[in-house]
Amino acid sequence: MSKKPFYITTPIYYPSAKLHIGHAYCTTIADSIARYHRLAGDDVFFLTGSDEHGLKIQQSAEAAGITPIAYTDRIVAGFQNLWKRLHISNDDFIRTTEARHARVVQEIFRRIYEKGDIYKGSYKGLYCTPCESYWTEHQLDENGCCPDCHRPVQEVSEEAYFFKMSKYADRVLAHIETHPDFIQPVSRRNEMINFIKQGLEDLCISRTSFDWGIPVPGDEKHVIYVWFDALTNYLTPIGFLDDAEKFAKFWPADLHLVGKEIVRFHTIIWPCILMALDLPLPKKVYGHGWLIVDGDKMSKSKGNVVDPIGLIDEFGADAIRYFLLREINLGQDGNFSRDALIARINSDLANDLGNLLHRTLSMALKFQGGMLAAPEGESAADRSLKADAADTVAFFRANMEEMQLSATIKKVWAFISRANKYIDETAPWALAKDPAKKQELANVLYNLAEALRVIGVLISPFMPETAARIWKQLALKGFGSVQLADIEPWGGIPEGHKIGVPEQLFPRIETEKEEAPVWAGKTVGKGKQPEKGERESASEITFEEFHKIQLRVVRVLDAEIVPKTDKLLKLTVDLGDERRQVVSGIAQHYKPEELIGKNVVMVVNLKPAKLRGVVSQGMILAAAQGEDLKVLSVDMPIGTEVR
Ligand code: MSP
Repeated sequence: MSKKPFYITTPIYYPSAKLHIGHAYCTTIADSIARYHRLAGDDVFFLTGSDEHGLKIQQSAEAAGITPIAYTDRIVAGFQNLWKRLHISNDDFIRTTEARHARVVQEIFRRIYEKGDIYKGSYKGLYCTPCESYWTEHQLDENGCCPDCHRPVQEVSEEAYFFKMSKYADRVLAHIETHPDFIQPVSRRNEMINFIKQGLEDLCISRTSFDWGIPVPGDEKHVIYVWFDALTNYLTPIGFLDDAEKFAKFWPADLHLVGKEIVRFHTIIWPCILMALDLPLPKKVYGHGWLIVDGDKMSKSKGNVVDPIGLIDEFGADAIRYFLLREINLGQDGNFSRDALIARINSDLANDLGNLLHRTLSMALKFQGGMLAAPEGESAADRSLKADAADTVAFFRANMEEMQLSATIKKVWAFISRANKYIDETAPWALAKDPAKKQELANVLYNLAEALRVIGVLISPFMPETAARIWKQLALKGFGSVQLADIEPWGGIPEGHKIGVPEQLFPRIETEKEEAPVWAGKTVGKGKQPEKGERESASEITFEEFHKIQLRVVRVLDAEIVPKTDKLLKLTVDLGDERRQVVSGIAQHYKPEELIGKNVVMVVNLKPAKLRGVVSQGMILAAAQGEDLKVLSVDMPIGTEVR
């Protein structure tokens, strides 16, 4: 069966501005959609590129004392590096300065001119140089300035070529009205309908006041005006002039993903050009919202421009991709904040996903030497986990088709929490103690590994590097060619499969300063040391005072070394009605896996403190003598009060 083609584009970016996190946002969205369609088995063509002509670039190059092409070469190399660092999987990168593109633009100009839809006239108009846009009087803002950037416009008059947009206005309006999917979200569709209803003027498509552009064929003192040059980039790499078969396969585009401010160019000017060429219109133009930073629009003058390379160096590409896609609803503006990014990394990535992988692999190693035995039989918990997996995969397919990226990610994370809960419900550490429960334990560990295989595939459009790392730790093969269909049936991991070595996926990010460490009831470091007399009187307490200390039996669910320490273990404990994290200075006495599944005594009403930047919400009791130390372990149910 031949694959369904899927052609997706981002806008081509101006190289005049430094790339910021907003550009990374748009490209990351497109990349995750492209990756989803590859998983779904489609034949994807994903295009991005650079929009390099125009007066502004010519002026910037002059200011830098270099040629425009030397100027754009340098910036475009930076773009390409960013896309590589961000794991953007584009199939082509189009530069409007390439010969292959100039050929297409000139041919399109020629065809439309011959048809009589391009004519030479004289333009007297109001021009905004920074936006490279002409405006009519009634389009200006209340101060008579550019409605986009609100800077002053200049009146200019020059000989120019015009494209007869007015001729196509009614047809474009009819198309928008009869194709509800063409412009999304719906709010932008209504905006465009109102815009066209005000009347379309013919579009000036050439300039003579600068020469950094593609010359008008046969009249070379004109260069082609920027939008006519830019929009046609979408036709160049899919064989418009030189590969009829490829062109027939990928045109019309399935999706032009663009920022909200350029929806107008894509849903009005572009359809008019395509109609003049007798080409079908793209199936969908989606206008995403803008990324703002700490509640404010990014701008050089405010000094709040977030550099994506710096963020990738600090947190890794996948954490940033996850944050952008999870945190922001596609059609709306969204806020970027470093604190919110760190909070997501710690809770969703290090805690939920990281712990699930780590706990699963550590237990499989400890209890079965890393071998996943064939499952036999099925408990209620097993059945419910499998049903949740199937439900999550179905939701994923349906919602990714509709570009519901954030909702899809939330659903996948609900499944990750479900799998973590399955560990608590099935308590593999307890099963491991009972030889009669060997098969039950094998089933649980197999199901957990299988859940992680499914999760690895489901997160791959959003976090491709992490997905590959999960597969590697599971020691599974063929990640590069895996399809969504491969995780629809449960049980893809072969019987007797041996898993790989567990590694930490995401280290927790510490932000605040450490507080004085608390260990065995003593506060070391900060604060005034008690006088001798005070210490003695403090050694006797009343019964009421003792009763203030709440002691309970808790179960250790997970344990790991606090990075860069050799004494501290971070424990996740179950109190029966809640889970907590406790840091305990016992790493030299216990290996993390020796504690998993133990019921120990904990002080549960100790004020939370930070040890090496890690929050500790309680204290595990231990008996210590010299080098010897044993945690107080009791064979009583979780939550039992200790008096
Ligand atoms: N060159 C034109 C597009 C031509 S497409 C045929 C252009 N370039 S741009 O570099 O100014 O913008 C490219 C894309 O980046 C736009 O879709 C724009 O919306 C997006 N973004 C720029 N800043 C942004 C944010 N702060 N947030 C989200 N997207 C933003 O327009």
